[in-house]
Amino acid sequence: AQSVTQPEDQVTVSEGDALNVKCTYSYSGSPYLFWYVQYPNQGLQFLLKYIGGDNLVKGSYGFEAEFNKSQTSFHLKKASARGSDSALYFCAVSDTLMGLQGKLNTNP
Ligand SMILES: *[C@@H]1O[C@H](CO)[C@@H](O)[C@H](O)[C@H]1NC(C)=O
Repeated sequence: AQSVTQPEDQVTVSEGDALNVKCTYSYSGSPYLFWYVQYPNQGLQFLLKYIGGDNLVKGSYGFEAEFNKSQTSFHLKKASARGSDSALYFCAVSDTLMGLQGKLNTNP
């Protein structure tokens, strides 16, 4: 089993300041890690993922996250926060890439 913890409910930063949203995971193997964002009145949007390789992952909108195995963390960062970054941020962990895609068949 695997889980993620976002130790802070709420983070407040001033515009222009660095943004840092923390995430630690609990999983003994090599995890796959994801960040999603939900802007007000919108659905969940994918930001970035770590599926191995380079520890530093760059994503959309200037976001990046660094996989740190010894700290079991995958904190989300952005150099300069904007007002429009006010949103809900979701960290997710998976032990497999299976199940991350859904197959839909429709009958004619
Ligand atoms: C993980 O975090 C620790 C503590 O902040 C740091 O010393 C170390 O360099 C980091 N490791 C990687 C691979 O980033």
